[in-house]
Amino acid sequence: MDHFQYAGDALHAEQVPLAEIAARAGTPCYVYSRATIERHWRAFDEAFGGHPHRICYAVKANGNLAVINLLARLGSGFDIVSGGELRRVIAAGGDPGKTIFSGVGKQDWEIREALAAGIACFNIESESEAGRVSALAAEHGRPAAISVRLNPDVDAKAHPYLSTGLRENKFGVDAARAAEIYRRAHADPNLRISGVACHIGSQLTDLAPYRDALRRVLDFADELAGLGIEIDHIDFGGGLGVRYRDETPPTPAEYCEVITREMRARKKTLPVVIEPGRAILGNAGVLLTRVLCIKRGAVSDFCVVDAGMNDLLRPALYQAYQEIVEVERRPRGEAAQYDVVGPVCESGDFLGKARRLNVRESDLLAVRTAGAYAAVMSSNYNARPRPPEVIVDGGEFHLARERESLEDLHRGERVLPE
Ligand code: LLP
Repeated sequence: MDHFQYAGDALHAEQVPLAEIAARAGTPCYVYSRATIERHWRAFDEAFGGHPHRICYAVKANGNLAVINLLARLGSGFDIVSGGELRRVIAAGGDPGKTIFSGVGKQDWEIREALAAGIACFNIESESEAGRVSALAAEHGRPAAISVRLNPDVDAKAHPYLSTGLRENKFGVDAARAAEIYRRAHADPNLRISGVACHIGSQLTDLAPYRDALRRVLDFADELAGLGIEIDHIDFGGGLGVRYRDETPPTPAEYCEVITREMRARKKTLPVVIEPGRAILGNAGVLLTRVLCIKRGAVSDFCVVDAGMNDLLRPALYQAYQEIVEVERRPRGEAAQYDVVGPVCESGDFLGKARRLNVRESDLLAVRTAGAYAAVMSSNYNARPRPPEVIVDGGEFHLARERESLEDLHRGERVLPE
């Protein structure tokens, strides 16, 4: 459930009409709902019942400082994949001691910063990385806590770009190699073995692959115990899907129940870490955009809006469906079918194809489910400033990020000397 609803004919974010935000902040503009973000985070937190757990929000989904700060206030931990995300967590008041560092390619400076900040755990993805973290921890003078990311060879049945748990993917290592990394780490005074990690993909709508992957992780933890290696948590990654169109993803409660049930069945009380991103932020945001013109085409008609693929890349990159709705429903004529396209000079620049809309020029549209992997994936392509981000809180709204200025676009660039 989210807090973007019509009151009368006007779409609201919580108690604020979206048209009012567009008038103040301009378009295109991202709008998030605080109540929705908090509701989703709490749904995960409460779903674990008494089972010890930590929710490490995946910053990559939406790294706005205000978003991180709101989650930090709830007691959230964080999952990061870069030194830049670590800086965001720290700048927003998040606790590095509740932060997990994931990712397949960590640079030395990032590892150093993470060690200095005292992060909770490095999720290691290769032998080489274990060696580098060990060497940098030796320099730092304190052992680094690690988990190894297991590749369970499970098909998450997600979009091919979003599946990460198959053996052909670049992510994680298979059980035999992971065991070897643990054996070496066990003997390495610069590494402290903390957990076992796994993440099989994103936008998962089926629980079966989760259950299969978790069983492999738990088998593997037993194997480690057989080698005399104890762990203090299981990190089960993120990936729970959301509804963009007609998907019926499991609820956080159903998802967490699979985890706690499997653990109970094996009498394991190990703390569980999860790293949800999309399921917390996805439906907590919309992209507001204004219709620039209606253009008749030879095959389809186009609704040209002021947001493009540089603002919201998901439709172009994954052929992702994102619902598009009128911000103000006006009593007039029939809806017609349009391809909703942006101003960017590529035919891949569309937000939606064959959508029925009742629109005129200068009307506002809202692209829904744009809280996750939306603003964070925006770019300056075609020299377009990135949109502002607004957070609605009850009857008020706050500018959480300014629109980039045209000067920002070439900051740091230089022409060659005469
Ligand atoms: N943990 C790890 C190690 C991850 O790689 C990811 C996402 C997450 C957690 C969070 O997954 P979530 O709960 O958000 O599904 N840009 C794509 C999604 C890429 C996801 C990458 N990894 C999209 O727009 O659909």
